[in-house]
Amino acid sequence: MTDYHFDTPAGPNPIDQQKIIGHPHDRIDGPRKVSGQAPYAQDYRDGISNIAYGFIVGAGIATGRIDRIDTREAEAAPGVLLVMTHLNAPKQGPHQHDLAPQLTGPEIHFYDEAVALVIADTFEQARDAAKLVRISYTPKKGRFDLAQERLNAVKPDEDEPDTSTGDFAQGFAAAPVQLDVTYTTPDQSHMMMEPHATIAKWEGDRLTLWTSNQMVHWAIRDVAGTLMIPEENVRVLSAFVGGGFGAKLWIQSDAVLAALGARAAGRPVKLALARPQIMNNATHRPATIQRIRIGTDPQGRILAIGHEVWSGNQPGRKIENAAQQTRLLYAGKDRMTSHRLAVMDLPVGNSMRAPGEAVGLLALEAAMDELAEKLNMDPVELRIINDVQFDPEKGPSRPFSTRKLVECLRHGAREFGWSKRNPKPGQVRDGNWLVGMGVGSAIRNNLSKNSGARVTLRPHGSVLIETQMTDIGTGSYTILAQTAAEMLGLPMDRVEVRLGDSRFPESAGSGGSWGANSSTAGVFAACEQLRQQIAQKAGFGGAELTFRGGQVHAQGRSVSLASLAGKNGIAADGTIVFGDLEKRYAQASFGAHFCEVGVDRYTGETRIRRLLSVAAAGRILNPKTARNQCLGGMTMGVGAALMEECVVDTRFGYFVNHDLAEYHVPVHADIPDLEVIFLEELDDKSSPMKAKGVGELGICGVGAAVANAIYNATGVRVRDYPLTMDKLL
Ligand code: MOS
Repeated sequence: MTDYHFDTPAGPNPIDQQKIIGHPHDRIDGPRKVSGQAPYAQDYRDGISNIAYGFIVGAGIATGRIDRIDTREAEAAPGVLLVMTHLNAPKQGPHQHDLAPQLTGPEIHFYDEAVALVIADTFEQARDAAKLVRISYTPKKGRFDLAQERLNAVKPDEDEPDTSTGDFAQGFAAAPVQLDVTYTTPDQSHMMMEPHATIAKWEGDRLTLWTSNQMVHWAIRDVAGTLMIPEENVRVLSAFVGGGFGAKLWIQSDAVLAALGARAAGRPVKLALARPQIMNNATHRPATIQRIRIGTDPQGRILAIGHEVWSGNQPGRKIENAAQQTRLLYAGKDRMTSHRLAVMDLPVGNSMRAPGEAVGLLALEAAMDELAEKLNMDPVELRIINDVQFDPEKGPSRPFSTRKLVECLRHGAREFGWSKRNPKPGQVRDGNWLVGMGVGSAIRNNLSKNSGARVTLRPHGSVLIETQMTDIGTGSYTILAQTAAEMLGLPMDRVEVRLGDSRFPESAGSGGSWGANSSTAGVFAACEQLRQQIAQKAGFGGAELTFRGGQVHAQGRSVSLASLAGKNGIAADGTIVFGDLEKRYAQASFGAHFCEVGVDRYTGETRIRRLLSVAAAGRILNPKTARNQCLGGMTMGVGAALMEECVVDTRFGYFVNHDLAEYHVPVHADIPDLEVIFLEELDDKSSPMKAKGVGELGICGVGAAVANAIYNATGVRVRDYPLTMDKLL
């Protein structure tokens, strides 16, 4: 494995040709997906015989203890192979992440936590027998209400330390114009289409997991750590993933219990969470309470900005870092941010769809709208005059690598017809519809992670890419193929991509919008390596190379790649290793969302009429897949604004609405034609690809644009998301 150290800004390189990169190629995995030939975790058949099925029995209380658990009736039911509970579960390693380990004792931590696993010959037998497990509990009084538990909130141990620049208290108190507002966002559920699912198979002490997972190497680490077996004894396969949204960053109960069940049963076990189990048994995004204070001069220049966030979770678990964008988005001398953890007994909270920014901007960008009104300013102009080209906490010594927020706002305002907006709310009518427009800025941190790949020039001159990278519906297959095709001068149909196998080189994986930039940079690194090997074989040592039409050209000669590949082919491994450019330059993707809504003046029903997003996210590797990502994000933003909410039963401590009939996400009928515009940008500090994260940018700020449009339409300011019709009447 050869490392490609990325610690100085990228110079010109073959990607800049943009013959294939930067073009809207269709997904190369598309035909397999739409014809049912792309196997998801539950679908695998090859090499898996005599399979048994698992079903999880979930806790019927949110907190307390199991007094007695009687499995005799379940064990005697037809087809049942075994029932595992904390009484007979094998010892597992210490806490890895979230839902590993499982069945560790009689204590209940949250509702629907696994208390038993039934393994049977068929799924139906396992599910029926699960109902025969008799359990008696002693419940404890739980902590289920964030508004109340916020009063006992604690400083989180890790993650996000408080930040403070200048003197916020003094700066805010002295500011001529002051805004002090508090917003709330509810618990939310990922609701990806493919549920958590795993098939586990043991061969001796070696375990294979076909599982739906975004991060193969984290899965290996956590499964091995939980089962207390060497990492090299675990193989994880996750070639196709039907949506992740953060739910599949870490293994959940299905992976651990399938592995434990398969070992105990001596047969492969398939375990999928039923949709209604996902809401409470698996992770979700925690609710937040967010207080925002902004002080400005009379012209609207921010002098002081403070953002305090409270979110709930199990003891020692993550906070929702909803103040992170407030550290970077706008100017201001006196600043503070803080996050506090309210320890609660609700299900485990974790990363979901742009953790932090997505809900942080629901508050910050609505607050900016309130501030603009207070100042009697245009909300676009308010944002523009508070732009800052460096990290405002660190000062000019840490500039942004690239930052086109102002350009996004201006371009979007022009395209959207923002000048037609009536700044006075409640003025524009279209029949029974009250019509309004709103804007929201978008920012998403650009993260990068080291990423490796193997690229093989095969006999006959085609190329194979192998990497642990996953494709969670994002287009990874396609952009990785585009990268190699560009680097090696081949057409797309000469490149094959294999993903999601832990036997391949370790990759960045799909998370935090780092996947595309990092994993293509990994393929770039491997291709650089391969190009050198090819040059050497062709006798072109040190010469300037051109790869074109399946040939390598140098020194006035051309050699075909097929002839160089020979019978055995040429394989090259490479890994992109990111240095400290991330520390020297603030890096983020930027955008602006413009929304027009209609609100029915009698019922409060809100319809999105138009939605435009303008984004600047470095090089857009594939405008088609990138646009598709933004459309998804925008749709999720509409969901966050109008409907998405896990409803907490604060008496018994669980999320009541546990399926897609009751947890509402926008469907086609809720979404008009959306528009996305990418501004031209190259970021030479991000990677040799000069690209940045785009996947989650679409969800950042869009919900506030919707809320601001609703205010402009109605004159009703709602600070508790989602903005359901009852709150508008
Ligand atoms: Mo994303 S919430 O990091 O999958």
